[in-house]
Amino acid sequence: LRDRLMQAVADAGDLDQLEAVRLAALGRKGEITERMKTLGGLAPDERRTAGQQFNALKDEVAAVLETRREVLQAEALGRRLAADRIDVTLSPRPESEGRIHPISQTIDELTAIFADMGFSVAEGPHIEEDFYNFTALNIPPEHPARQEHDTFYLPPREDGTRLVLRTHTSPVQIRTMMRDKPPIRIIVPGRTFRCDDDATHSPMFHQVEGLVVDRASHMGHLKGCLIEFCRAFFDIDDLPVRFRPSYFPFTEPSAEVDIGCSREGGQLKIGHGADWLEILGCGMIHPKVLANAGVDPTEYQGFAFGMGIERIAMLKYGIPDLRTFYESDLRWLRHYGFVP
Ligand code: PHE
Repeated sequence: LRDRLMQAVADAGDLDQLEAVRLAALGRKGEITERMKTLGGLAPDERRTAGQQFNALKDEVAAVLETRREVLQAEALGRRLAADRIDVTLSPRPESEGRIHPISQTIDELTAIFADMGFSVAEGPHIEEDFYNFTALNIPPEHPARQEHDTFYLPPREDGTRLVLRTHTSPVQIRTMMRDKPPIRIIVPGRTFRCDDDATHSPMFHQVEGLVVDRASHMGHLKGCLIEFCRAFFDIDDLPVRFRPSYFPFTEPSAEVDIGCSREGGQLKIGHGADWLEILGCGMIHPKVLANAGVDPTEYQGFAFGMGIERIAMLKYGIPDLRTFYESDLRWLRHYGFVP
């Protein structure tokens, strides 16, 4: 029996044959297994010696099977490696490559610029309480600024209050000041919503908010920070930047920032030129806003700014139509999108 099994193992030409040999010897109905079942009929001392012999045979066969299996496996691998040659000169199947959407790209770029100035990124909810979107920002219920915001309201809740889709990223100023202790230096890129829809407005668009709160941050810091940003973002070292007095309920004083440009033959070009282009709103945080958010205005002051991301992306990358940002047109994305 032993010699026959050894021969069978040696003769097995591949892994399937070897497995058949294993089953025929050691399987539930295998020869060795069957023989061991007959041991019960022998006298006790015969049973012991025969049992030991069969166990030794079993171990021996198992060991030989294992060795043979390793050899056959190595052979099979060798054959496959020889057969499966890869032709590296063959051109790959054409696959469409993903692109970074210009909005994401712009957010990444401005985040990197502000990160270099020590800002970190914060976020807030799109569905917002009236308090954070308006009241705490010094826009009480009767304030005319509420009309200008073209707010999307959710249906009234049981207590009569209504949630809104945030009309700007400024509510995150309040949330951040209520949560964190100064010094605070954050930017908040994110979606905002207003119910107007034409060639230059979309009901959903993006803003980035900036907020700095410290003991002595002043208008000079605000100006330096934003001039630095404009020049870095548009990659023009001496880009003209102008601060023009303006009004926002939540900042005092307030300003709008213009950058230099030229319009020759209908072609808009950022840089030196006779014209100005408005790109953002900013100001020193109104003391009432600090107080509303639990920050002591006699101890701290700060500044805030907000700008439209689509707008600065259109200017930087020469994208003429706001609505194309959201049309999910692959040809558009291939044209304006960024290779990752
Ligand atoms: N929230 C203002 C807007 O949406 C922009 C702004 C932010 C102005 C912060 C001043 C300070 O128009």
